[in-house]
Amino acid sequence: MTMTLPRILAIETSCDDTSVATLEGFQVRSNVVYTQVLHEQYGGVVPELASRAHMEALVPTVDSALKKAGWALKDVDAVAVTQGPGLLGSLLVGHSYAKSLALSLGVPLLNVHHMEAHMLAHFLVEPGIQETAIPGFPYLCLTVSGGHTQLVVVHEWNRFEVLGETQDDAVGEAFDKAAKLLSLSYPGGPVIDRLAQSGKPIFTFAQPQMPALTFSYSGLKTSVMRSMQARVKEVPASLTDELSDWCASIQVALVQPLLEGLQAASLQTGITRIALAGGVSANSHLRQSCQTLASELGWDLYLPPFSYTTDNAAMVGAAGYFAFQHQRYGSMSSAAKAKMHD
Ligand code: KG4
Ligand code: ZN
Repeated sequence: MTMTLPRILAIETSCDDTSVATLEGFQVRSNVVYTQVLHEQYGGVVPELASRAHMEALVPTVDSALKKAGWALKDVDAVAVTQGPGLLGSLLVGHSYAKSLALSLGVPLLNVHHMEAHMLAHFLVEPGIQETAIPGFPYLCLTVSGGHTQLVVVHEWNRFEVLGETQDDAVGEAFDKAAKLLSLSYPGGPVIDRLAQSGKPIFTFAQPQMPALTFSYSGLKTSVMRSMQARVKEVPASLTDELSDWCASIQVALVQPLLEGLQAASLQTGITRIALAGGVSANSHLRQSCQTLASELGWDLYLPPFSYTTDNAAMVGAAGYFAFQHQRYGSMSSAAKAKMHD
């Protein structure tokens, strides 16, 4: 007997990426991401412009995702959508569209928590992109994005235990702020990562003393700035001539606490299935260091493919498929939320 898997259309509009994916169960058929480059000129996401851009991009992105999969709208069995957390105006565009689509097609609406979707991206299967083993529950997930820095035990698809998190800025935010100090473009994380490849971490910065499993990134900007001022006195062109060394040094300083946190959390919980999630999990130094730790400490490491690290709708589809299997359908009176339960 062949089982037909439900066909899920997934929508993500929580920040500055308009993304739509089609999935059969966990199998990704298409994952279209339209990144709003218009924010680059402002050095950060402008919420009002983001929601307008979502309004313009959403329908063409849905069309493109359906076309790539060879589906028509009538083929869709459920609509998954990010309900929150994120920018309210942006979320509203995707969420109200998803509600009306589900209503008009007469199919279930699947409300998805954006951060849970990042953590459940490991279940996606896509030929040529993600073919490796999927983690079993429970696994320990380091969730690192522009808004979050958390150590989470994923007990079940809908049971997440936050062991510790940042007390102030998120690590992605710290990458972006540091990049601004170096006059690099937004978002700064990928630029720092690229430039760091040819640099050496020769500069050091004061690291805050934090309680176990917690992080703090708000002070780093000041301490980077102080180091820069001191260095520029000795080498006036340091910020351009030694740019790649600054990037490598900042990257090491930002990643080090994450590696320490992961080791401590693994030791405390006894969990050795380790996963990374969120935009910063694309960082090459973080990925390489985790691979080294994994071979030293016997971890089973799950690194998301690059296309599932930053915001994408495929991960929303993965979380949505879990909800579908458990018949946790969203109601037509549900609303987008800027803040969600943790
Ligand atoms: O998960 P994400 O796409 O959006 C949020 O939900 O926040 O994460 C975006 C963040 C940005 O701060 C960006 O600079 C960072 O992820 N990022 C990186 C890299 N790629 C993206 N940070 C460091 N290295 C990277 N390669
Ligand atoms: Zn995200």
